[in-house]
Amino acid sequence: MPHISMANHAKAHGPLISLRLGTRVLIVGSSPMAATEILKTNDRFLSGRCVPKANPYRSQELDRISLVWAPHCTEGWKSLRALCRTELFSAKAIESQASMREKKVAQMELFSAGTDTTTTTIEWAVAELIKNKLMRKVREELEREINKDYIHESNVSQLPYLNACIKETLRLHPPAPFLVPRRAIENCEVMNYTIPKDSQILVNVWATGRDPSAWEDPLLFKPERFLNSSLDLKGHDYEFLPFGSGRRICPGLPMATRQLPMILASLIHCFDWSLENNEDPAELNMTEKFGITLQKEHPLLIVPKKNYNFNGCLLTICIFLIPAFVSLLIFWASGSERER
Ligand code: HEM
Repeated sequence: MPHISMANHAKAHGPLISLRLGTRVLIVGSSPMAATEILKTNDRFLSGRCVPKANPYRSQELDRISLVWAPHCTEGWKSLRALCRTELFSAKAIESQASMREKKVAQMELFSAGTDTTTTTIEWAVAELIKNKLMRKVREELEREINKDYIHESNVSQLPYLNACIKETLRLHPPAPFLVPRRAIENCEVMNYTIPKDSQILVNVWATGRDPSAWEDPLLFKPERFLNSSLDLKGHDYEFLPFGSGRRICPGLPMATRQLPMILASLIHCFDWSLENNEDPAELNMTEKFGITLQKEHPLLIVPKKNYNFNGCLLTICIFLIPAFVSLLIFWASGSERER
């Protein structure tokens, strides 16, 4: 898998690697220092996107209509980002969408852009909690802090352990391990090397999240590391960048950081989850599959048993989770299809 082989090459050759793919130069940064120079020091020069050849739109059209694939940070792209910031993902907008969600499930279409990244993260989070037998610890926090059968989005900020589990999941399993590829719009210098204009730039955040010089026991799932820690997801901590950083940082971050703990909390509050046929959790296969998002190669198959919160939770499920469940089902179904 490319993110693993590039991390291994970085161990042998250093944190900044240049490859030639046909006529294109590809640069891969794999350390917190390389990420800082790419996403902070040279953010402006490296803020273009490489548009995949399969994309049916022309460059000028993408500049006007697309955020993710806008080849340049044009005035049109700036207006779309401003719209996201003020109208879609501001604290106020998210709050009002929460009450909208309570009234109208249909409004959830708004959020389809982040579906794959969100469902992938939830699947990895549940898998890690089962494998490391931490489900009970999350449930204890929910029972202690929420103390009612209905979880509201605003409650999830009171759940430090649950939020630490989400961060730890994103550290080990960033859905976009190379971020979304950037493009050099001008020549620039990174770690004393010249990056030619039009190079494609990847930052291996999968590798930085497991860098032994930045993390203690980097391969272990230890949510505690984020308790009493100032590390956040906003793109200032260059060893921890699942949402990217700089001017092209994920605009859906405020929504995702609210939705992910809400979905995970509700799944655990409503059901006891276990593996099929009393399989040993420690044996759970965590092999990755590289694709548009970094998925589990073997889709997680788990059995829900309703717990005593179930009746109150039905409401939560109907109002908040139907769209997430539908995506998960599609996701799992496509996973089973892949397996066959
Ligand atoms: C677990 C959840 C998510 C993760 C891990 C994630 C991650 C990312 C990453 C790594 C990038 C590229 C950043 C860079 O180049 O520095 C990105 C861009 C983007 N994300 Fe997300 N994302 C998530 C959820 C969402 C959601 C919920 C939305 C919207 C509803 C969204 C919309 C976008 C858009 C529009 C861009 C392109 C921004 C641009 O190029 O200017 N994402 N995301």
